Amino acid sequence: KIIVLDFGGQYNQLIARRIRDLGVFSELVSHKVTAEELKAMNPSGIILSGGPGSVYAEGAPRYDAAIFDLDVPVLGICYGMQLMTHHYDGGVEASNHREYGKAKITIETESKLFNTLPKEQTVWMSHGDLVKAPPAGFTVDATNVSCPVAAMSDESRGLYGVQFHPEVRNSEYGNEMLKNFIYRVCKCEGNWSMENFIDMEVEKIRESVGNRKVLCALSGGVDSSVVAALVHKAIGDQLICMFIDHGLLRKDEAEGVVKTFGEGFDMNFVKIDAQDRFLSKLAGVTDPEQKRKIIGNEFIYVFEEEASKLVDVDFLAQGTLYTDIIESGTDTAQTIKSHHNVGGLPEDMKFELIEPLNTLFKDEVRIVGAELGLPDEVVWRQPFPGPGLGIRVLGAITDEKLEIVRESDAILRDEIKKAGLDREIWQYFTALPDMKSVGVMGDERTYDYTVGIRAVTSIDGMTSDWARIPYDVLEIISTRIVNEVKSVNRVVYDITSKPPSTIEWE
Ligand code: XMP
Repeated sequence: KIIVLDFGGQYNQLIARRIRDLGVFSELVSHKVTAEELKAMNPSGIILSGGPGSVYAEGAPRYDAAIFDLDVPVLGICYGMQLMTHHYDGGVEASNHREYGKAKITIETESKLFNTLPKEQTVWMSHGDLVKAPPAGFTVDATNVSCPVAAMSDESRGLYGVQFHPEVRNSEYGNEMLKNFIYRVCKCEGNWSMENFIDMEVEKIRESVGNRKVLCALSGGVDSSVVAALVHKAIGDQLICMFIDHGLLRKDEAEGVVKTFGEGFDMNFVKIDAQDRFLSKLAGVTDPEQKRKIIGNEFIYVFEEEASKLVDVDFLAQGTLYTDIIESGTDTAQTIKSHHNVGGLPEDMKFELIEPLNTLFKDEVRIVGAELGLPDEVVWRQPFPGPGLGIRVLGAITDEKLEIVRESDAILRDEIKKAGLDREIWQYFTALPDMKSVGVMGDERTYDYTVGIRAVTSIDGMTSDWARIPYDVLEIISTRIVNEVKSVNRVVYDITSKPPSTIEWE
């Protein structure tokens, strides 16, 4: 396996993910791990990741320098290469401006990382500080006009550094470089697949749970459904699935979940009707972060209450993904939005958490789901946020506004499906801004709500582009929404990508 040390770059999990895609198990661990702990993990290779810091900065992430003495090949990427240079007494030039974008590099040596690849190639550069002089014993393997040491190595000691980001798709041969590192340098075998993941997690779950009981927060979405199936595979009837209807679900959604899991699967299944409770807590609350926190907290409180009626439940299984964690902020990464499964947890929580998907990206979760035998409509269901329609009604939530989002969303989903676009578009929904505008219907002036359509293409939700829905399909959607949904006189289409926007509007 390959261990990636996390120094805080937003895309660090992507490195681990690319390596898993290449057939070798890889996971991301904190930069605080000690050399001894690392040794116990028995890695075939170590990758030092990128990060926002400077090796000279006061708050530079600490790490155990003894990891360089483990006699395991090390690849430093960006910040990781600067760290390696600093450790071996090379020269790192501090800089206070960052440089981003595509860059041409020229390969200068026959390094094992590059000697199967073209001499001239495009890579994705993103750096602040630069390596000015490689440490003694290192050769410069690649150069670039603005970055004289674009790559370096000391092959006799198995040390490699690249200033650019091979894990990013804009690096033309990045994947080949990672492949060369894991197979040619680290001599990995390459027999990792999602089946191994399932076996490994099933084993872990059995070990930590023993003969105790687990409660699963089943929402019917891909993540919690996959968790339920995975935990069920591990411990069968020791799992109790609880489905809470918080009143923020899409049209006909609750019925669908009951049908699939309560009737279709042979799981311990409980449905809780908590609509009134959630909606009264949310009444009048306008701040998005506060809404998220309320919904998250309430969820756990309802669970705790309901669970206390069951006997001896010690664990809560959640479908937290890697993207949820990174966007809620880790030791090293900045907070963008507090995600429902993570930031919303109350401090006095009584459960131990089981989060078996927290190293995976969405598309990996779908593969796991399919392997576990979940039906297509569950595996390919579009992502739906934990706080549900609560963050799609912008500002204060009312029954009337929920109804507008629910009905307009149902029309959108219906038409997207009819147009055969439901697999192509990663996520599509309607949102209701907290505004009214003037319109005319018949001969009457109207003053009513505007519905926003959001539809995006994405691989993993970390970045996205707006979907190019054909105009004629948009036209049908718009006409139907204005005609069929009460109190709506205008429909707009969101044409921003992420970044700078996010997918949800709150
Ligand atoms: P954003 O809006 O952050 O959304 O670009 C990225 C993806 O995450 C979903 N999302 C959430 N999922 N709990 C979740 O389980 C949440 O609190 C949450 N907020 C956003 C969103 O629907 C999109 O797929």
